[in-house]
Amino acid sequence: MRARAVAAALAAAAALASSAPAQQPTAPKPPHAVPPAPSFAFLATPPVGLPPMPQPDGYTPTAAMFELGSKLFFDPLLSRDRTISCASCHPAATGFAHADPRPKGIAGQLALRHAPALYNRGYGPLQRWDGGSPSLEAFVLEPIADAREMGSSVDEAIGRLRADTVHGPAFVAAFGKPADAEGLQRALATYVRGIALGDAPYDRFLRGDADAMTPQQRHGQWVFESKGGCWKCHTPPLFTDEDFHTTGVGARDGHAEPGRMAVTGREQDRGRFKTPTLRGVRLSAPYMHDGSQATLRDVVEFYARGGTANAQLDGKMQKLALSDADKAALVAFLESL
Ligand code: HEC
Ligand code: HEC
Repeated sequence: MRARAVAAALAAAAALASSAPAQQPTAPKPPHAVPPAPSFAFLATPPVGLPPMPQPDGYTPTAAMFELGSKLFFDPLLSRDRTISCASCHPAATGFAHADPRPKGIAGQLALRHAPALYNRGYGPLQRWDGGSPSLEAFVLEPIADAREMGSSVDEAIGRLRADTVHGPAFVAAFGKPADAEGLQRALATYVRGIALGDAPYDRFLRGDADAMTPQQRHGQWVFESKGGCWKCHTPPLFTDEDFHTTGVGARDGHAEPGRMAVTGREQDRGRFKTPTLRGVRLSAPYMHDGSQATLRDVVEFYARGGTANAQLDGKMQKLALSDADKAALVAFLESL
């Protein structure tokens, strides 16, 4: 009797999934039409659905560091000609990613890659698409000295911060000493850790709110977790394994870009790029390390084709048998995260 009830429930679920186009999807509940502002509180109490955030090495972040970092992130003083701030390439409205495939840095120069969304980077051990930076603290000074991005130097930035009538005293208040490279690292990294995103319909559904997701979004989740195979790399709840894979983005004539190999020197890392989180992904088009996919539908079509063929293609990438309804549902699911 019980087994039959289970079988009936499974059949009903399968019917729901395969009949999605006939279903009239109810209006999606916007997960976070305006995502919550970055918050120091997220370091201790992450949004619903996210695991505890790892602590940085060697110090305990404080609210004063976060406040200072939240001002520095938006201050063009860190760039040589005082025109470019972190937020120039990572505006909040587009998920802290940039709407151009490659954003413009100082004097109109193009950055080398797409500026990725900054959600939940506090969970990531390695930064950059190729993992070339070992921690958030190490990374945040790199754009300042990058000739294409902010075109300055850490020494120049420290000199300006010490002389600044607002930031100068704020450094002393936060760290008990004048601005230095370590303080700048810690303030910016603490702010970036506060850029956390969870509490999506998906998380509320898992917590027992049966109405949190639309039928179409649930169909999309089913595709994501079954024949789409997406979960293998975009592993919930962060929707990334923080590992590196060759999907063929950027591959030409069967040859992949160096990717992670440029960092490790190992041939088997050729073409590997970091799996980005899918949290807030609806905000951060265009997609991939080179911004080559304009929309989420384009991304889904890319995976349906099995990625771009090349000698290093990850074994988890294969052609997918997805119906039009499956693809639309997958997009709806991604938009709900
Ligand atoms: C000119 C545009 C530009 C500016 C200015 C800029 N970034 Fe970025 N940011 C990028 C690009 C491009 C990448 C990807 C770099 C790569 O993978 O090699 C990136 C990557 C990152 C990452 C790593 C994300 C990940 O998923 O690995 C973090 C964190 C970050 N930026 C924070 C900052 C901070 C903090 C500042 C200010 C100090 C800043 N950025 C300034 C363009 C910019
Ligand atoms: C083999 C591991 C792997 C699998 C399987 C996989 N992805 Fe990805 N995904 C990645 C990597 C790596 C990238 C970045 C590739 C790059 O830019 O070179 C990425 C990028 C993306 C992006 C772009 C995000 C952004 O911020 O630019 C989306 C969206 C995405 N994947 C969705 C999916 C969906 C949907 C599926 C299932 C149909 C899927 N992925 C399957 C590893 C994977």
